[in-house]
Amino acid sequence: MYLSCTLTTFSDSRLRTTIPPQEIEYQRRRRATFTHIDSSNADIRFVDPRRSQEPAPPSKATTITVSVPSRLTGLSLGQFLPVLALILALIVQFFVPVYRRFNYQDQALRPVREAVCPSTPFEPPTCLPPPALAPQELHTFDSLSSRNMALAEAAQKVAKEFDYTTAQLNEAVEEFLREMDEGLAQDGTSLSQIPTYVTAVPNGTEKGLYMSVDLGGTNFRVCSIQLHGNTTFSLTQSKVKIPTEIMTAATAEELFAFLAKQIQLFLKEHHTEHYEGHMERIATGSTEKGYREQEIFSLGFTFSFPVHQIGINKGLLMRWTKGFDIADAIGRDVCGLLQTEIDKLDLPVRVAALVNDTVGTLMARSYTSPGKTGTLVGAIFGTGTNGAYVEKLARVTKLVARKENAEVGAYDASTGEMVVNTEWGSFDNALAVLPNTPYDAALDAESVNPGIQMFEKRVSGMFLGEVLRRAIVALLQTNEVPLFKDENSSLNELHSTTQVGRDSPLFARWGLDSSFLSVAHGDASPGLRITRQALDRDLGVSAASVEDAEAIKVMAAAVGRRAARLSAVALGAIVLESGRLDTVTGDEEADVVDIGVDGSLVEFYPGFEDYIREALREINGIGPAGEKRIRIGIAKDGSGVGAALSALVAGKQNLAK
Ligand code: BGC
Repeated sequence: MYLSCTLTTFSDSRLRTTIPPQEIEYQRRRRATFTHIDSSNADIRFVDPRRSQEPAPPSKATTITVSVPSRLTGLSLGQFLPVLALILALIVQFFVPVYRRFNYQDQALRPVREAVCPSTPFEPPTCLPPPALAPQELHTFDSLSSRNMALAEAAQKVAKEFDYTTAQLNEAVEEFLREMDEGLAQDGTSLSQIPTYVTAVPNGTEKGLYMSVDLGGTNFRVCSIQLHGNTTFSLTQSKVKIPTEIMTAATAEELFAFLAKQIQLFLKEHHTEHYEGHMERIATGSTEKGYREQEIFSLGFTFSFPVHQIGINKGLLMRWTKGFDIADAIGRDVCGLLQTEIDKLDLPVRVAALVNDTVGTLMARSYTSPGKTGTLVGAIFGTGTNGAYVEKLARVTKLVARKENAEVGAYDASTGEMVVNTEWGSFDNALAVLPNTPYDAALDAESVNPGIQMFEKRVSGMFLGEVLRRAIVALLQTNEVPLFKDENSSLNELHSTTQVGRDSPLFARWGLDSSFLSVAHGDASPGLRITRQALDRDLGVSAASVEDAEAIKVMAAAVGRRAARLSAVALGAIVLESGRLDTVTGDEEADVVDIGVDGSLVEFYPGFEDYIREALREINGIGPAGEKRIRIGIAKDGSGVGAALSALVAGKQNLAK
């Protein structure tokens, strides 16, 4: 704990008083934050070490130093007395909480409370007036518990808004199946059902050295992958955060030049010999050995946005999602755009396959998964959400129509199957079956793509934090709900008042990271300490009470559970459509329906898979018996390996130009 006391206009001689270690420990526990007592230029602060950059000094006696101004030295006793009185008042102020500890009913001193002022996007009111200080009443245990009950009830009420019943679940599955069919037959549908030209999934015996890059959200990854042919691989990778200005650049060239530059840096660092040899050949213009195809890396390009794919390494961008917004790129071939920038740098790389991250996940899971059955679905539950699955080629009827218009690239039809990228983030954009709370509606209205990706806006990590934030702020703005309103320190077992800072991220759009949901939902610490720390550290809510944290936990759990139940709609519908549950061989391993998943939500949100499973059991046609046959396995960073595998498959089929 760091304790300071200054009289800001003073500078010279000092008066000292010493605080005993027990008091420091007590203050540490109560995490006192006296905010600006602005009388006579005095400012006392107790700085919580968790909020301070400074390391906490060992708990030893701490000295409050009060400086006395040089111009006052030599003053008469009469002139000096007011200063002394002020100093004494400050010291008394410090010890009052100690006194209060032993005198629960003494409410004489009540701290200053700041106005709660949301900056955006909640209007009206734009700025909540500081809540009126309660009359000086005695708080009995009864009034405390009815207050806490009111908060718990309010939180439960919000949680209830996120309920998604069994009936709704089954209705949504029906709609999903309908949209799957519609999307396989024609373009321009809600569920895009994009044919990927990938007609085979790996079986674990594939070998070779490949490259892949992955553009899908916050980061750009460059990898080289050595496939060992025994379901294992070695991977070298580098990852860079995509600067915000690149995500919304004016031209596509800016984005793709940035990506090509990262590939160059990766090659220089991890494949130095290969890179330098190649550059030397170019520099000397040597053609002695000819242009040797095998010296060029085949690269799988994981591009996790909706693309109208017209070949294994050709796809036109349909729309951006996840905060990207570069209008210039819409309708253009993303492989061509990347290849152009790679060629400008003379890199030994050819873009051989274009894959969505879900396709990559499906390929990677199929390569590594145990057992005899090929994986059915690859799904991402991360920043965005989507799934790809193995469909019977004959059902992808829109390919036939495209063929007639000569709009279709080559593919190997012998397997009778094709991986289809559903782009399920856009399932039910019309909101026929999706839930729509006021928080969902407001989020959508203020998003960069209103009316689009409606499923994703209720399921994926990019949005869940924002949904929860809006629910919390709505409660905060309801005067009668005592959330974060312990303006009297006797209401809070920390013996401090709860403060929501003016600039709390709670009041800023996207201010609440979805990882907070995982923290709150998974918090089993005594007194929900972890959630309260996160509230303080990440959201500027100091000294939240246990009841506040409980309310937040209830709401976070509801938002997460709804996301998982909706995820089950998509997975369940695909499992049903595949017909894989219709046959039973009796061989447990052969009867498994395998699903590969990746993404922060499924990996880190506590119980996400359990909630999915709970919902799967409620789906007609799956039930408890079907759910048992469904195996869900993480394909960590699968998209990188999967893209490499797609490049390999493309090479084998000799389809890439
Ligand atoms: C994109 C998908 C992608 C998913 C997961 C969505 O926003 O539209 O193409 O697969 O995010 O990354």
